[in-house]
Amino acid sequence: MEHNGALDSLLQEERVFRPLPQLVIEANVNPQEYDAAVRNGNDDYLSYWEDAARELDWFRKWNQVLDDSNPPFYRWFPGAKCNIVYNALDRHITTANKNKLALIWEGETGDTQKFTYYELYRAVNRFANALRSLGIKKGDRVVIYMSPLPETIIAMLAVAKIGAVHCMVFAGFSAKALRERINDAQAKLVITADGFYRNGRPINLKKVIDEAVEGCDSVDTVVVVHRANVQVEMNEPRDLWYEALVRQESPECPTEVMDANDMLFLLYSSGTTGKPKGIVHGHGGYMVGVHRSLNWVFDIKPTDIFCCTADVGWITGHSYVVYGPLMAGTTTVLYEGHPLYPQADRMWDVIAKYGVTIFYTAPTLIRMLMRFGTQYPKMHDLSTLRLLGSVGEPINPEAWVWFYKNIGRSECPIIDTWWQTETGSFIICPFPISLLKPGSVFKPLPGIEADVVDEQGNPVPPGKGGQLILKRPWPSMLLGLYKDPERYKEAYWSQVPGAYLAGDVARKDEDGYIWIQGRSDDVLNIAGHRIGTAELESALVAHRAVAEAAVIGVPDSIKGEVAKAFVILNEDYNDPEDPDELLKQLKDHIRRELGPVAVVKSIEIREKLPKTRSGKIMRRILKAEEMGEDVGDTSTLEND
Ligand code: WT7
Repeated sequence: MEHNGALDSLLQEERVFRPLPQLVIEANVNPQEYDAAVRNGNDDYLSYWEDAARELDWFRKWNQVLDDSNPPFYRWFPGAKCNIVYNALDRHITTANKNKLALIWEGETGDTQKFTYYELYRAVNRFANALRSLGIKKGDRVVIYMSPLPETIIAMLAVAKIGAVHCMVFAGFSAKALRERINDAQAKLVITADGFYRNGRPINLKKVIDEAVEGCDSVDTVVVVHRANVQVEMNEPRDLWYEALVRQESPECPTEVMDANDMLFLLYSSGTTGKPKGIVHGHGGYMVGVHRSLNWVFDIKPTDIFCCTADVGWITGHSYVVYGPLMAGTTTVLYEGHPLYPQADRMWDVIAKYGVTIFYTAPTLIRMLMRFGTQYPKMHDLSTLRLLGSVGEPINPEAWVWFYKNIGRSECPIIDTWWQTETGSFIICPFPISLLKPGSVFKPLPGIEADVVDEQGNPVPPGKGGQLILKRPWPSMLLGLYKDPERYKEAYWSQVPGAYLAGDVARKDEDGYIWIQGRSDDVLNIAGHRIGTAELESALVAHRAVAEAAVIGVPDSIKGEVAKAFVILNEDYNDPEDPDELLKQLKDHIRRELGPVAVVKSIEIREKLPKTRSGKIMRRILKAEEMGEDVGDTSTLEND
């Protein structure tokens, strides 16, 4: 099946889908309440967010809703004391949620583990006590490099409970990328697993950690969770087994009292330079944004079973696998392995087996699964589903409609949520009661003001493309970039005065619906994961054979986008004997440098690359050539 015309069909999409009447009647937010929330959010957005904050537990109330005295370093709920883990776990222990399932985990091998809120609370307390006894204190950074395991969630919550800062690194990153993050964060402790299962095979994670931690002076301890029984070398006294560590610990542990703007986590994401951005979130504002958005947008009910397929190493996993569902007191389902293992019905099997009611996934997964046709979903009873969700990249209408018909029985609304690591929680998305247009992310949430503007910052007319901006602060916004306030200002707040620049191109239609077209900067979106062209280029030029490199994104029918590289070889490597072998080496090299997340489709050897007179590579020209489009204005191009 060919989906390369995704953008074209997005531009022509005109269908509208209505929710079933019953769903509207039962929704947490009905149409009148929605309209009122939009009005309140516009008239007095501070009191709108203050109401949202009141739904959570705080140790001390704020002095003020928003301190905007030092833009863009906005601080929400200053003076307040809280801890997100108190809201995610502690407070449920004294309610009827105590014995409710908090977490259902399914391993790729078919084994399952279930935790009630009480059990999860006790497991988190044990590990939190162990961390404290290892000397981890409030503010210390802890890197977690793990596959999706119950202990991954336990580790995050335990770190946050004692006021330390977690920094998740997706297990698809290389040792080198991991080391860069450990060093930048100056992490004292790293948590990992011996290995995990992927596609039926155990993958060794500990090996990667050993290579990454080599020479990292900040790291005193590595905690290793048993999972895959792979051969590992324990380096004493640095390395400790998780199971041995928690055995003696008490299942009670006091929760650290945090300032609302104390750091909760650090999460690295690609930007336009080779150095990833360390995005910082705090306890107070983040919990308000995540809590309100999940409860309203995904309409959480006491009987829901919520399954989000994102890895916990990305922001979607933080907000909507861990914190959001637990704060809401719902049951979150976590699957360890590959969605096609042992065959293409694994996700449908998980939905049927646990009676999942809300299934939140990414377009790339939908496209991958739709290739196998409807025979696999038909093998399972998917009737428990009531809402579907999509995130990570624009969803092409063909995938939307397939998902809607074959998974959602033409009854479940698809909630397409636009947001970013930086925004912490949903920003632009529909509610279950909304009229949906496939491929559009609907409108900004109540309390949020977004617009599409031209180079000068003026709103563009309907139908025209422009930059997506957010015009006022929101509670779950990043506190800043780790140790780099200047880059924070420059990257997000300098182009349009007073507004946050998202880095996406979008358009609004006549009805005010927003359609996201993709990134406007040099960041690729590969299967919903951000990879900067600069990171790929610097990985390439780190290879002996490469003198210069330029990377562009090209459409891919499953991953949405993949990288294509153009390289100029060093003189000694010109006329390689076996060019195919060299190209293979270069691909392997990128994989080693960055990890399997960086998917490079092809590498082309060139004699020259198009550059401006000042020597900047014009990726735009390479891209236009590649796509067979008009190369446009080349007047600034370097002369021969
Ligand atoms: C970028 C953020 C937090 C979501 C997971 C990725 C793209 C995200 C959508 C959507 C179109 C989307 C944007 C955004 N994106 N969701 N529903 N429709 N595009 O988080 O790695 O921080 O990437 O993902 O380009 O800027 P992220």
